[in-house]
Amino acid sequence: MAKERIDPTEHYAKVVEILTQQGLLLGSYDSAGKANVMTIGWGALGRIWSVPAWVVLVRPSRYTWRCIEHSGCFSVNVPTSGMHLVCATCGSVSGRDTDKFALCNLTAERGQMVLAPTVAQCPIVYECQVVHSNDVLPEKLAGEILSGAYMDGDYHRIYFGKVLSARAEADALTRLG
Ligand SMILES: Cc1cc2nc3c(=O)[nH]c(=O)nc-3n(C[C@H](O)[C@H](O)[C@H](O)COP(=O)(O)O)c2cc1C
Repeated sequence: MAKERIDPTEHYAKVVEILTQQGLLLGSYDSAGKANVMTIGWGALGRIWSVPAWVVLVRPSRYTWRCIEHSGCFSVNVPTSGMHLVCATCGSVSGRDTDKFALCNLTAERGQMVLAPTVAQCPIVYECQVVHSNDVLPEKLAGEILSGAYMDGDYHRIYFGKVLSARAEADALTRLG
């Protein structure tokens, strides 16, 4: 089904609910042009520096980290309630050695505004241009977060992505469950 432009904050509550439950799908291209997708459970949609933005956290060990470093952009894709297995797979298998779009029967569509693939099967998609990134600094982090999230180091890089496009299918909320 066709996706139409929406305000980035439309469906906000539902999108955050899915982020914190099964997760969202972060799309990017590698330097060879292969589309990759990984599950994220941490992130924030809001307004920063007067622009709509997605803030996402990606550990350097992820193949996605390398992809975003190369391309400077990413997509955030909101899966339907029927895509639990897709989220579990994309959150455990690496695109370094696997084509996850093929493995999960997903269709990669070229972004309309940025060099990042969107997931055709997701009823809401955001296209984001990185406007800032920085690394989690252990010395600046509360102790309980440090010990809970960073036992092995691998400190996230935090990407601030300006939302250049947000699109949704007309029946998105019904399909999201
Ligand atoms: C529900 C869920 C949420 C996740 N959230 C994040 C996240 O916010 N940041 C991150 O770096 N990894 C996160 N992961 C782990 C990555 O999705 C996982 O390591 C993935 O295989 C990386 O793929 P890649 O190597 O193709 O980038 C999450 C995994 C799951 C299952």
